[in-house]
Amino acid sequence: MTDGYAVRAEGLEKRYGEKRALDGFDLAVREGTVHGLLGPNGAGKTTAVRILSTLIRLDGGRATVAGLDVAGQPREVRARIGLTGQYAAVDEVLTGRQNLEMFGRLFHLGGRQAKLRAAELLEQFDLTDAADRGVGKYSGGMRRRLDLAASMILAPAVLFLDEPTTGLDPRSRGEVWESVRALVASGTTVLLTTQYLEEADKLASRITVIDQGRAIADDTPDGLKNRIGGDRIEVVVAERSEIPRVVKVVARVSDGEPEAEEAELRVHAPVADRVSALTEVARTLQDEGVRVEDIGLRRPSLDDVFLRLTGHRTDASQRASEGVSQGTSPGTSQGASRGKETVA
Ligand SMILES: Nc1ncnc2c1ncn2[C@@H]1O[C@H](COP(=O)(O)OP(=O)(O)O)[C@@H](O)[C@H]1O
Ligand SMILES: [Mg+2]
Repeated sequence: MTDGYAVRAEGLEKRYGEKRALDGFDLAVREGTVHGLLGPNGAGKTTAVRILSTLIRLDGGRATVAGLDVAGQPREVRARIGLTGQYAAVDEVLTGRQNLEMFGRLFHLGGRQAKLRAAELLEQFDLTDAADRGVGKYSGGMRRRLDLAASMILAPAVLFLDEPTTGLDPRSRGEVWESVRALVASGTTVLLTTQYLEEADKLASRITVIDQGRAIADDTPDGLKNRIGGDRIEVVVAERSEIPRVVKVVARVSDGEPEAEEAELRVHAPVADRVSALTEVARTLQDEGVRVEDIGLRRPSLDDVFLRLTGHRTDASQRASEGVSQGTSPGTSQGASRGKETVA
């Protein structure tokens, strides 16, 4: 019995010596959906995926996948799942088609069946044109798609995707997203781990945020974004004395109190209609002759999620900002991690 849930985990525990990789982790994934597991490096995402896919044993709690107990029925669970990791497991020397045929044979498909399935998957993942090229010549995105295709050979009921787009450029990332959408349309349930709020937002119908081995939030993408305040407009001025004027202008379009960070000469505020807010503020400030260094829209990042939910930043960004205060590459790492879009 699945009760409509493809994955259920209650109070999962996993220890490595003193380290509690999972510390009472709960999860419920509805059948036929993409569920995002969002968290920074070291939060416990891979450990959770490895337990659910029966690669490692849990120390406490219980979990079912496709209605089967992972501890008691690991073989049955394995027959119903697919798994792809952060690093593609395909062979560089073989072509895309040869790779998929080889995986088919590994999964005990006959030669003819393996060929047919490979052709179907190449089509589904938009790799037909590249099918007979060596994988060594594939782009990162093509490789990741081939990896996804390989994990779909037996059309699993549940697919675990562990950071499928980490390290990919934006274009390749978009290609992988398309493939994931196609997978779910064909009936597979996907548990996708990610460090990108944007990715979870784009793909998942529900998101669990994980921190230090525990779920600290479980919500729809909109619910989560509402809790953290959604998109923000951000203005950096040239002179501290301009801040009060900017606060006034921003307040007219914002969806909440503007905040001013005097030291950074920065004013920011949540906005509902991002584009009209941006044009309105830019125009008004120009009309009033305010000297603006930078103006832009900022989507909430994983870091914003953490700050709101836990009151602290992710460890990675803490390290980044410590780096900044020591005078290394101010702004760049922060700007990138915030996913800021700048105009003008
Ligand atoms: N095999 C292992 N031995 C010791 N510690 C581990 C092992 N695997 C994971 N950990 C630790 O458990 C925590 C969670 O790791 P992991 O599940 O890989 O996090 P994530 O995938 O979210 O980055 C980390 O602190 C990590 O160092
Ligand atoms: Mg991981």
